Amino acid sequence: MSTERTAPRRVVTDRLVLRGFEPADLDPFAAMNDDPVVMEHFARHGTREDTERLVARVAAHWDAEGWGLWALERRDTGEFIGFTGLWPVAFEAAFEPRREVGWRLAVGHWGQGFATEAARAALDVAFDVLGWADVVSFTAVGNERSQAVMRRIGMWRDPVGDFDHPDVPEGHPVRPHVLYRLAADQRPWR
Ligand SMILES: CC(C)(COP(=O)(O)OP(=O)(O)OC[C@H]1O[C@@H](n2cnc3c(N)ncnc32)[C@H](O)[C@@H]1OP(=O)(O)O)[C@@H](O)C(=O)NCCC(=O)NCCS
Repeated sequence: MSTERTAPRRVVTDRLVLRGFEPADLDPFAAMNDDPVVMEHFARHGTREDTERLVARVAAHWDAEGWGLWALERRDTGEFIGFTGLWPVAFEAAFEPRREVGWRLAVGHWGQGFATEAARAALDVAFDVLGWADVVSFTAVGNERSQAVMRRIGMWRDPVGDFDHPDVPEGHPVRPHVLYRLAADQRPWR
């Protein structure tokens, strides 16, 4: 167990609960990771096994580091709708810091501000609880929806940091990525 500060495993916002993954999330999460609309800007869809591996990695990361991705549950319906949270940059990259904020929601829950609401809560934990100075976020150049979330939460594009994702095959259309940044004192909601 790390001796660093740790994030709460459960965070409640106006409309969402950010919490650990539960066994009942696996079916809807696997369906979401195999949805071509959700995965349009990724090099490959996730299989059921990929989803199980990801959930296990998320749990292991929480146990080792005390922070990570949260599953998102709607407070009005109790439904699992995806994830948002903090994640280490595990690939070779020229930029710093090596900690990102990220999100993935099932299509039926797009267009309602849930990713934005969860991202603000995640960043408050990153900056106020964990004491991080800044975070990045990145996505494929064509992923406008994800970049719109970044801009809504006050992140700014740093073209110097744009990069070709090393885990995406050369020549693949989603290989070129854009980099956005946010520092603790740049939060527009504070
Ligand atoms: C990226 C992703 C999470 C964005 O979802 P989203 O629904 O567009 O984003 P939000 O949840 O913040 O919702 C914003 C939309 O809700 C609207 N909205 C309604 N109520 C709102 C509120 N209270 N606050 C903010 N926005 C609100 C906004 O106007 C916006 O609408 P628009 O898309 O018509 O402009 C989603 O597209 C996704 O999961 N994509 C696939 C996975 C992915 O690409 N992840 C990122 C990879 S790096």
